[in-house]
Amino acid sequence: MRSAALSVILAAAAAGANASEEPKPTFKATEISAPFIEQFTDDWAERWTPSEATKKTPVGGETFSYIGQWKVEEPETVLIEGDKGLVAKSKAAHHAISAPFGSAVDFSEKPLVVQYEVKYQKGGNCGGGYIKLLADGFQTSGKEFADTTPWVVMFGPDLTCPGNKVHFIFRHKNPITGEYEEKHLSPAPKPAFGKDTNLYTLAINPDNTYEVRFNGLVQKVGNVLEDFEPAVNPPEFIDDPEDRKPEDWVDKKKIPDPDAVKPDDWDENEPYEIPDEDAVKPEGWLDNEPEMIPDPEAEKPEEWDDEEDGDWVAPLVRNPACDVAPGCGEWKRPYKANPKYKGKWYAPMIDNPEYKGEWKPRRIPNPGYFQDLEPVKNLDKIGGVGIELWTMTEDILFNNIYVGHSIADAELLGNETWVVKHQLEAAATAKVLELDQEEGPSFKEDPLGFVRKKVTDFIDAASADPVGAFMAYPATGAGLIGSFIAVFGLLGVLVSLIGSSQKPVPKPSKKTDAPTPDDEKKDEKAPVAPAGGKSKEETPVKKRK
Ligand SMILES: *[C@@H]1O[C@H](CO)[C@@H](O)[C@H](O)[C@H]1NC(C)=O
Repeated sequence: MRSAALSVILAAAAAGANASEEPKPTFKATEISAPFIEQFTDDWAERWTPSEATKKTPVGGETFSYIGQWKVEEPETVLIEGDKGLVAKSKAAHHAISAPFGSAVDFSEKPLVVQYEVKYQKGGNCGGGYIKLLADGFQTSGKEFADTTPWVVMFGPDLTCPGNKVHFIFRHKNPITGEYEEKHLSPAPKPAFGKDTNLYTLAINPDNTYEVRFNGLVQKVGNVLEDFEPAVNPPEFIDDPEDRKPEDWVDKKKIPDPDAVKPDDWDENEPYEIPDEDAVKPEGWLDNEPEMIPDPEAEKPEEWDDEEDGDWVAPLVRNPACDVAPGCGEWKRPYKANPKYKGKWYAPMIDNPEYKGEWKPRRIPNPGYFQDLEPVKNLDKIGGVGIELWTMTEDILFNNIYVGHSIADAELLGNETWVVKHQLEAAATAKVLELDQEEGPSFKEDPLGFVRKKVTDFIDAASADPVGAFMAYPATGAGLIGSFIAVFGLLGVLVSLIGSSQKPVPKPSKKTDAPTPDDEKKDEKAPVAPAGGKSKEETPVKKRK
């Protein structure tokens, strides 16, 4: 629903943008350098290899080939002339493609920063947009890249049908067994993706701290020793799995007092209630009037056939005589509580002298215990980047991938690329809303009236020409209730977009926002920063210490 409404807005936005004939900015390759920067310039195919592998599903063992098509092309809505991105083209298909780095990158001394853009051009509700930093060594067989290819970090958006999240997962090597286990950031940030271009940034530091940003805004900062599931380090002690509760273990806290005796005068047979002998039949009680009588006004219907339908009997109605008397029919003595009632006798409960407490298995040292205090430094080196995903929607666009050591460079690249597009996308959305203002109430001044007008327009059109109405108002036509939800779902985003479009370009914040534990809590509570969020936070950059 939501995406249907959005597509109308975007289509109109595109039309509006074209009409204005404003010159578009032109793509210029960045001069920033890093171990890996990808802007999908014309030589991209020298770096990227689509997979020719097959994949076996873990359940059922079905085999799939990575038949999803990859293309490097301009987005459907061109914002920067000549700016191409990598597009996963195929609906309901497995896609895989990878690019090796010039040389392997490690996590031991400097921060590792990963940043890239994803645009769900067709919206949709099922589809990955995450990338994998592949373990050094995969390079020799790029064509074999598949779900089983070892990776070190997986990061980025996922439409999880339903729902959405930004994954941050790393594969940690158990120093005792040598086995790898996936550690998931939990809870994962869940910003609203929409259909505009979004920027995802991850920084992982050798001191185990990390930071996840969405469109330049910090979603989560923390420590990999604390925020991941399962925890990096296992518990030192565990319940002994061999320990069993002994047969004679007494875990009954209370027992009936064995010394108590039922008192002699305790009669278990006394009933709970007895007839109230003091009750008197009220004066004027009509013993001979029935409570219900055949309806004197009812008449046998003409079409009644005695042979087919049987004898006709008038329906019963309440006897009007009973309404003016205290009661009709046989008077029955009411019951009252029996003062002699005692019920069944039970011995009172006392503390059980044999009680041993709640049974718990004994704690033993965890045989699998280890302590890795430098899990980030100990991560495997990465040899390249891979995109391996399954998607129900086509045309997911990736661009401006940065893998390096400098959050400042990643920010700068974001300023050169994502910020430019984001502002154009926000302006296009605002323009559509302006167009809407010309006829009928504006969304900003009167959101309810705005929605009401949309729906009334649709109803008017539908009563004249139902088919045409659905074509002219696809979002509304998709279901009136649905459209209410769709428009209100967008409310927050739209209001903030109008807000930011009418304010001067915000000054960069001079504040240095070193993450504090308090900030972290705030981030967890309100991690959602919609694209084009509040103007104060519009600056995509938060300075780090
Ligand atoms: C990116 O742009 C913002 C806003 O103009 C600015 O404050 C910030 O310093 C820029 N970042 C870098 C790394 O140049």
